[in-house]
Amino acid sequence: MKPAKLHYWILGCFSMVLCCGCTSEKFLLSDSHPHAWEKLYLAHHWPVTVCKMSANDCQDPPEYWTIHGLWPNRGEECNRTWHFNVTEIKDLMSDMRCYWPDVLHSSQNCTHFWRHEWEKHGTCAATLQILNSQKKYFGKALELYQHLDLNSSLLKAGIKPGSTYYQMTAIKEALTSFYGVTLKIQCLPPEEGEKAQTIGQIEFCFSKKLELRNCTESTGGSERMQADLELGTGELSVCDDTLPTYYPSQVQSHK
Ligand SMILES: *[C@@H]1O[C@H](CO)[C@@H](O)[C@H](O)[C@H]1NC(C)=O
Ligand SMILES: *[C@@H]1O[C@H](CO)[C@@H](O)[C@H](O)[C@H]1NC(C)=O
Ligand SMILES: *[C@@H]1O[C@H](CO)[C@@H](O)[C@H](O)[C@H]1NC(C)=O
Ligand SMILES: *[C@@H]1O[C@H](CO)[C@@H](O)[C@H](O)[C@H]1NC(C)=O
Ligand SMILES: *[C@@H]1O[C@H](CO)[C@@H](O)[C@H](O)[C@H]1NC(C)=O
Repeated sequence: MKPAKLHYWILGCFSMVLCCGCTSEKFLLSDSHPHAWEKLYLAHHWPVTVCKMSANDCQDPPEYWTIHGLWPNRGEECNRTWHFNVTEIKDLMSDMRCYWPDVLHSSQNCTHFWRHEWEKHGTCAATLQILNSQKKYFGKALELYQHLDLNSSLLKAGIKPGSTYYQMTAIKEALTSFYGVTLKIQCLPPEEGEKAQTIGQIEFCFSKKLELRNCTESTGGSERMQADLELGTGELSVCDDTLPTYYPSQVQSHK
C-alpha cells in the first residue's frame, strides 16, 4: 500500500474511533437500525486540491470536478459478502475513468478505489431498488454527476480556478441560486502562514427518490459528524465563511 492511501485510511479510522466514542446515543440508534439512511451525498472533489493534500502519486490531475463518491448518510459496509466485480460495470468504463478517477493514484488502474466505494457505501445504498446492483449504483452516480454539471455551473457564475481569491459566501450564493438547494462545501484549512483556505469538495444531497434536497436540513443531531466519518476526508472540513478561498488551478510541487 502506498503511503498516501495509508494516510487517508488512518485518518478515516481515527475519525471513526472519535465519532463512535463521542456519540453513544447515535451509536445505539444505528445499532438497532444498522443500515437505515435517509439521504445520499454525491461528493465531487477538486483533483488539484486532493493532490495538494497528498501529492504522492498525482500526475496531471484533471482540471474539472470529479466524483469522490455517492454516500448514504448512515451505514457502511452493509454487505460484506457482496464483492466488487469490475466486469459488472464494464459498460461504464470510459465514463468511470474520466469522471471517477482515482486522483491519488493516477498511475494505477482505479479498481481498488471503486472497490472501496462499492464495499463501503454502495452496499448500503443498494437497499434502494434503483441502486441495487453495481451497475445501477455507479451508473446512477455518473448520471447525477453529468446532470448536475458542476463544472459548467461554476464557470457560468464566473468562478474559475486560478490565482483569484473568492469569498466563500459568494460561491455558496452562486451555487444555491443555481441549484435551488444548499450544498455542503469543504475546504482545506489555511496552511501555516497562509490566510486563505482551499476549496476541495462539494457535496449535493439527494432524497431517497434521488431528488435534490438541502444539505442543511438536519434530521438528527450528530448527522454532520456521521457524514464526515463516512467521507474519510480527514483533512477537509466545512469551509469557513469568513476566510478568502483559493480555487487552485495547478498542483504546486510539495514534494
Ligand atoms: C449480500 O450480498 C449477497 C451477494 O450479492 C446476496 O446474496 C445477499 O442476499 C446480500 N445480503 C443482504 C442481507 O442483502
Ligand atoms: C463478475 O461479473 C460477471 C458479469 O456479471 C460474472 O460473469 C462473473 O462471474 C462475476 N465474477 C465473480 C467473481 O463473481
Ligand atoms: C486493474 O487491476 C485489476 C487487479 O488489481 C485487474 O484485475 C484488472 O483487470 C485491471 N483492469 C484494467 C482495466 O487494467
Ligand atoms: C467537466 O469539465 C471537463 C473539462 O472541461 C470536461 O472534460 C468534462 O466533460 C466536464 N464534465 C461534465 C460532466 O460535463
Ligand atoms: C431548501 O431550503 C430553502 C430555504 O432555506 C427552501 O426555500 C427550499 O424550498 C428548500 N428546498 C428543498 C428542495 O427542500
